[in-house]
Amino acid sequence: MKLWGGRFDKETDVLVNDFNSSIRFDARMYREDIEGSIAHATMLGEQGIISREESEQLVTGLRELLADIQAGKVEFSEDNEDIHMNVETLLTQRLGAAGKRLHTGRSRNDQVAVDFRMYVRGEIPKIVKMLLELERVLVRQAEANVDTVMPGYTHLQRAQPVTFGHYMIAYANMFCRDITRFEDCLERMDECPLGAGALAGSTHPLDRQRTAELLGFARPTDNSLDSVSDRDFAIEFLSACSILMMHLSRFSEEIILWCSWEFKFIDLDDAYSTGSSIMPQKKNPDVAELVRGKTGRVYGSLITLLTVMKGIPLAYNKDMQEDKECVFDAIDTVELCVPVFSAMLDTMTVRPENMAKAAAGGFINATDCADYLAKKGVPFRDAYTLVGRLVNHCIATGQTLDTLPLEEYQALSPAFGEDVYQALSLNTCVSQRKTTGGPAHDEVLRQIARIRAFVEERSEQ
Ligand code: ARG
Repeated sequence: MKLWGGRFDKETDVLVNDFNSSIRFDARMYREDIEGSIAHATMLGEQGIISREESEQLVTGLRELLADIQAGKVEFSEDNEDIHMNVETLLTQRLGAAGKRLHTGRSRNDQVAVDFRMYVRGEIPKIVKMLLELERVLVRQAEANVDTVMPGYTHLQRAQPVTFGHYMIAYANMFCRDITRFEDCLERMDECPLGAGALAGSTHPLDRQRTAELLGFARPTDNSLDSVSDRDFAIEFLSACSILMMHLSRFSEEIILWCSWEFKFIDLDDAYSTGSSIMPQKKNPDVAELVRGKTGRVYGSLITLLTVMKGIPLAYNKDMQEDKECVFDAIDTVELCVPVFSAMLDTMTVRPENMAKAAAGGFINATDCADYLAKKGVPFRDAYTLVGRLVNHCIATGQTLDTLPLEEYQALSPAFGEDVYQALSLNTCVSQRKTTGGPAHDEVLRQIARIRAFVEERSEQ
């Protein structure tokens, strides 16, 4: 008979039994479920709601059950619906009468809310740690390439010169924001819903402060209806995962472009590439492509949970059982993607000569040419138009701004002097971009130092 079988005259239909059961996926939270129960049983004993002996019996029984589950000695049953009822049933089989007192002043609604929170809370530091490792790789690649000039693009058209180091730090900044998003989410979820009961608290003198403290939460949640209805923490977590995956996916897209023969800015290590079953010449960036592809399923998880939650009244509704698989899948996906992505970046070979070649060919110093004239007193808008004509002339005659003879420069404007070549060299174009955040050597070193400090601050903890 079901734990809740008292009110029923018939057994659950097998189809419904299967349909309703969540044990095949929520068994993952067995540790959190047992820790929550240990805290609850401890508090029940301290408050005199159950006897001290029963409380101790429950705690010991729960600890033993945990050890047995970890040792693979326990099998969960579909008939017991979910992890909460499986644990309670197993405990009662072992302890008899005391086991039946565990659920005093508690509901599966506050129980699942606390378990799920603890589960997500436990995964965030793991993800942050992986991201910190990614940051270290980016810092290393950036440091090695502070002077590696490459074209920066807008509309995927060569735009202005940057360096590969500057580029790596762009991504490093994106991942810093991801880390702080996970940290923010962790801080906001640091409240314990246990003791909210089914929805309306309890008539037993529960000490919610105490269970919150035993489970390592900053405080109990403040409203019992909200406590059991709220899945914001999971939605925020999925948002942070989705934004992170969006960043990884953009980065993947660039990696894929960069290792094509059209660019050849980088080579991926053989260990991080795959071949083709038919085309012998192929070396494919499958890792980057899979990361880009897996981004979709994480977005899917976010949309799943937002949609599950959008139409349900307070408090608990069974719809909410659909909150877990999407979150677990997002966790698995993120924890799979980040380390392999870091390793791929760590082992890639940068091709500065190809970057330099691409940087030299695309008039990416045209803005600098207009700036040159502006510094000589020509109004920028006029300078811009003049340089536009120069570029046109170069394209028509197969030249670049670096090779155009001075007479041809001066035919357009007498403001051009011999120093134009120096001003337009790619090295000057990069080294003069000293504005805060720009690609100049020292400025990128400053940006690197900032990322490094961000990482170190968190590595000490
Ligand atoms: N397995 C359920 C879930 O995951 C636990 C809560 C069930 N509560 C209930 N009143 N049926 O959401």
